[in-house]
This record gives sequence, C-alpha cells and structure tokens, in this order.
Amino acid sequence: MTDELSSNEASDRGERMPRRVFFKAGAGLVAAGYAGGIGYPIYRYLATPAQRAAELGAITEMTIPADKMPAVGTALQFLFGNRPTILIHLEDESLVCLDAVCTHLGCTVQFQPDKKIIHCACHGGTYDMHTGKNIAGPPPKPLKQYQVETTPDGQVRISRA
Ligand code: FES
Repeated sequence: MTDELSSNEASDRGERMPRRVFFKAGAGLVAAGYAGGIGYPIYRYLATPAQRAAELGAITEMTIPADKMPAVGTALQFLFGNRPTILIHLEDESLVCLDAVCTHLGCTVQFQPDKKIIHCACHGGTYDMHTGKNIAGPPPKPLKQYQVETTPDGQVRISRA
C-alpha cells in the first residue's frame, strides 16, 4: 500500500512538473503578447512622426501629373516630401518652383496672383514670384528654389539637391 501510494505520488509529481512548466511558459507568452499588444502601438505613436519626417525629408524628386499643372498666371501649392511648396506658372509660360516656408519664422507663404507676389500673412513678408527673393518685410533670406523640368507628356518633374 505504501509502495503504491508513493508511486502514485511520484507519478502525480511527474505530471505536475510538466504542467507547471507548461503554464509558466503559457503565462509568459500571454504576458509577452499583452506587452507587445500595448507596447507596439505606443512605439508606433511615438516613433512614427520622427521616422516619417525623416523619410519625407529624404525625398529629393517628385512628379506632378499633367492634369495638376496650374493654369498660366496661377500656382499650385503642394507638399514636396514634408515641405510646403509652390509651383507658379508664370505669364511667359515658364514654371518656377519655390519652397513655401517663410524664411522669417516659418509660416507658409501664399502666391497672390493679383499683386504678382508671394506673401506671408504672418508678418507681411513679401517675395518676388520669379525668383523667390525677399523684397519686403522681415524675411531675411529668399525662398529656396527647386529645379523644374517639363516632360514631353506634360508632367512636371521637381527636384532638389
Ligand atoms: Fe513670414 Fe514672419 S513668418 S514674415
């Protein structure tokens, strides 16, 4: 009887050990799953803006489809990577592409076709629409100019060095 009991205890112990290990491993996996489920979205939330800005800032070339080409005397405002940008279709049919971030304190500038200038509403800065040169107000430097090339099929290719 004692031998039988002790062998049952041994077999019980033998079964319990693998179960304990199994449950500990299972609990570890569940904990890791919860940590990943909570941690990954937090990581994405915190890391994405910086990563995304770096990725967008690294874009050096883009193409504007022919159907988005602004009419003569008007401008198209768009994002070149993460930078506000203006493509102006001048009256002589040439194209000028300028960074649209004011060199004073960083507001986004606007093309004013009636006055034929680029204007910053924040502090009244004014830029020449042909060159991006700062001509009035507080901006200390001209707007950065990008290279523009028109393809035979009417697309506009913009690039920055
Ligand atoms: Fe444009 Fe000040 S931010 S003039």
